[in-house]
Amino acid sequence: MRLTNNWINGDCLKELKKIPSESVHLIITSPPYHNLRVYSNDSCDLSNCETYEEYYYLLSLVIKECERVLVPGGKFAMQFEDYNYTIGRDGHRGKESLTGDINKIFKESGFILWSEICWEKYTPQRAMISDGSLWYRNLKARDATIAANFGFVYVYKKGTSGLMETQSGSDVTLAEWAEYASGVWKIPNSSIGGAKHMTPFAYELCKRLIKLYSAPGDVVLDCFAGSGTVNRAAIENGRNAIGIELNEDFYKAAQDIFDKWDDKVYESSDSFQGMVDRFKEQLAIGELNKEEGKKAKEEQKALTQQKKDIRAEIKKLEAELKTLGLKASEIKNIRENAE
Ligand SMILES: C[S@@+](CC[C@H](N)C(=O)[O-])C[C@H]1O[C@@H](n2cnc3c(N)ncnc32)[C@H](O)[C@@H]1O
Repeated sequence: MRLTNNWINGDCLKELKKIPSESVHLIITSPPYHNLRVYSNDSCDLSNCETYEEYYYLLSLVIKECERVLVPGGKFAMQFEDYNYTIGRDGHRGKESLTGDINKIFKESGFILWSEICWEKYTPQRAMISDGSLWYRNLKARDATIAANFGFVYVYKKGTSGLMETQSGSDVTLAEWAEYASGVWKIPNSSIGGAKHMTPFAYELCKRLIKLYSAPGDVVLDCFAGSGTVNRAAIENGRNAIGIELNEDFYKAAQDIFDKWDDKVYESSDSFQGMVDRFKEQLAIGELNKEEGKKAKEEQKALTQQKKDIRAEIKKLEAELKTLGLKASEIKNIRENAE
């Protein structure tokens, strides 16, 4: 199968309208936050809104359009965080919480909250670099601030009665599942090589979401695509990609990276059935591990019983030696020599 990497320069509100309904299987995105960081002075830039209300209104339009393009039951993974205000911003310190407002928009747009992931992005020590109040020397009684060194990934499902997968199968291996199943993901916030963007996604985060919530050959979309991390992770994992980015500089920087890719990345021999077969192999490995684990447990149990029996035998012999008139110190000597 030949994969397509659809990399679009434009306003996602306009560009999403050109995408057919129910043609996308998974959306992964990290939107701009209302006035935390302004990416451009373009009037369509969501980071450039006059008010909180305008920002949420535009975001809700984007989410509604995303709902239209998603297949029933398709997932929308939204990465965002509640951030600490830095000194002087809006004249006060405190936290900005997006969770409630974003969740409300998704619910009103026909989604249900499916899974929540806490993404530990970096150490609190790193957070200290940007937030001086976290330094120990700056601690004030009754006024501590905790590091905002994590973000959220909220995974929403389109429709409350959308298609449920009835066929067992996943692109996630047993070893991966051992890590991915946790609600807390510790992934360093490092960008893909050459990304010229101030807030790029962690590639590993995108890869996990793609493997968990889509299948080979599916279409994965990022409507605030920045440096194109989602596109790259999608193609490299056998999915088709659509990325929409407004800022021409970011768009071109990512295009330069895509242009250097070997054409072979677009040729994938994978398929849905291939994924199901891999899953069955993993299941068989799991069963084997379970059997081997059971055997090892039984062997351990037998060994423990053997030790117990030997100890009981020693005690019995010591009691016999005592009845033969040997002193405790002599019995001790015999035991130590035997050991
Ligand atoms: C948080 S960044 C996303 C970074 C991206 N996840 C990555 O891996 O590089 C948000 C991006 O949304 C873009 N953006 C803002 N308004 C937009 C709009 N209306 N349409 C498309 N992109 C927009 C900004 O230029 C910025 O690059």
